[in-house]
Amino acid sequence: MSDPGPTPTATPEAQLTAPSQLRLEGVSVRYGETTVLHEISLDVREGEFVTLLGPSGCGKTSLLRTVSGFLSPSTGRILLREEDVTAVPPHKRPVNMVFQRPTLFPHLDVYGNIAFGLRLAGLKKEEIASRVHESLRLVRLTGLEDRRSNELSGGQLQRVVMARALVNRPDVLLLDEPLSALDLKVRLQMEEELRRVHRESGVTFLYVTHDQGEALSMSDRIVVLEAGRVEQIGSPNEIYQRPTSSFVASFVGGANVLPVTVAEEAGARTARFVDGSPAPTPAIDLPPGPANLVVRSEEIEVSTIAGGLAATVVDMAYRGAWVALHLDVPAVGVEVRADVPARTARNLTVGSAVWLSWDAEAGSLLAPEDSTPETA
Ligand SMILES: Nc1ncnc2c1ncn2[C@@H]1O[C@H](COP(=O)(O)OP(=O)(O)OP(=O)(O)O)[C@@H](O)[C@H]1O
Ligand SMILES: [Mg+2]
Repeated sequence: MSDPGPTPTATPEAQLTAPSQLRLEGVSVRYGETTVLHEISLDVREGEFVTLLGPSGCGKTSLLRTVSGFLSPSTGRILLREEDVTAVPPHKRPVNMVFQRPTLFPHLDVYGNIAFGLRLAGLKKEEIASRVHESLRLVRLTGLEDRRSNELSGGQLQRVVMARALVNRPDVLLLDEPLSALDLKVRLQMEEELRRVHRESGVTFLYVTHDQGEALSMSDRIVVLEAGRVEQIGSPNEIYQRPTSSFVASFVGGANVLPVTVAEEAGARTARFVDGSPAPTPAIDLPPGPANLVVRSEEIEVSTIAGGLAATVVDMAYRGAWVALHLDVPAVGVEVRADVPARTARNLTVGSAVWLSWDAEAGSLLAPEDSTPETA
């Protein structure tokens, strides 16, 4: 996993001054007695690409359905362009949704599918033609107007669905895992396409995925959700480099989360692993007590020369240029993952004795999570 770096889609400074396009204020959502979203607050700026990232069942689709109006919040408000739309029915909201599995009308061709909503709205024929062609150009499907849905590839189908959503010129486009049904190669191509369509259309995107790679590569900002709550909101770089909870650290990029204890010793704070050995950490600003030390797998140096934490290789997975090592580290008490260059792994086999170290500044120390189990 490499540093995703700054996102190319937009300049965050420009966006922070852009007007608010979509705002959620303390939105909770229930299915019957079960609360699936807990007081979500979020401000999406005009033209921003914001991604909701979280594991299956955390409430991503429910949040999109609430923004589009198909679900009503039990508390809180939804504002579009500073206007309260909480009570506005779905068809009157300036938003459109793109679903995971694209569905087109089989009896209509591409043109007919894209034009459908505009015809229903009673637009003039010339206006419809010009808007349909503009959308087709945007998704690069010009020339395929006469195809039926069974004559399109998966990627093309997804583009038609995008064109059909964009032709309505929504203020906000809601995308629910639109790439998950595609195979890896097409998915990577479509990631690039989506970024381009976002840039060229200027439409605000609220995108849903459980794939951290997709979220990191496409978004201006990422909202990490867990069990119906916001865990962290930040740029891809912030989410990856400075996770504020061990959930975010391990969900995004699969960082190691190592239990430590912070103690006050002779006026200075130290962190120690479960066996009492000192843990390399940056300056400690947490109170004494249990804490989590987060260290990314690519930050861990693995050496066959004694020094640092003693470990044993328990599994090795070749990933081409690098190798993922699983290590048993008695001092730490949990299995540690290290991604090392293939050249470093050349002398290792399962069972090899090695020593681990990392730059103290590369880790981050987090307060232990309140570990109340989610009952709702
Ligand atoms: N119609 C429904 N009635 C009752 N519970 C529901 C309904 N739809 C979803 N849920 C529950 O609400 C929670 C959130 O579901 P949601 O579909 O929003 O999750 P998600 O993050 O989109 O998951 P996935 O990544 O699997 O699509 C889950 O626990 C789910 O079982
Ligand atoms: Mg979903």
